[in-house]
Amino acid sequence: MAVSAGGKFKYPTGKAGAEALGYDNNLIRNSQNELLESFCGVGNPFGIAKIAPGAQVLDIGCGAGFDLLVASNLVGGKGKVCGIDLTEAMVNRATRNMALASVTNVEIRHVDREEIPYPDQIFDVVISNGVINLSPRKSALFREILRVLKPGGRLQFADIIRRKESAKSLRPNPEAWAQ
Ligand SMILES: C[S@@+](CC[C@H](N)C(=O)[O-])C[C@H]1O[C@@H](n2cnc3c(N)ncnc32)[C@H](O)[C@@H]1O
Repeated sequence: MAVSAGGKFKYPTGKAGAEALGYDNNLIRNSQNELLESFCGVGNPFGIAKIAPGAQVLDIGCGAGFDLLVASNLVGGKGKVCGIDLTEAMVNRATRNMALASVTNVEIRHVDREEIPYPDQIFDVVISNGVINLSPRKSALFREILRVLKPGGRLQFADIIRRKESAKSLRPNPEAWAQ
């Protein structure tokens, strides 16, 4: 059964979101429905700079895995993509989605805090899409990102920031923060 992100967020998600954010149309056309419909990125981290074939990439907050699939296609058979997510259900879903897409250069791990379960200086690129804003420990997360990046490596992330104070009634509501 496809689990859709549709209607759960205040921005376009799923296929409409991927199209609006300028993701590759061929990839969108060829993606499994379940994978595409769960996409809930807020931007397109791949538009910032080209990721080279053979690169080692980490996706922080991989969700159901659409950005993993994009990265997997870019790095090819000689590269590797690692995805981490705070939610076990998303790790399971991404793992299943990668298997359905017959992707073999991606590994996915569950994390329970802002610690990245990889050694120092092993990634060429860290990507993230709509995740860092959710972290209450942003400085710790940025320190971890810097630790795992190779010298000269880069962070390509898309995210949302608030320009105004949020309404008092929304502050204790985690669902409102996530939407
Ligand atoms: C906006 S979605 C990510 C979209 C995803 N890149 C895609 O392709 O659909 C946010 C994800 O980040 C995860 N998350 C939130 N905080 C996190 C953290 N500190 N570390 C890892 N994952 C986190 C959530 O569980 C959720 O699956």
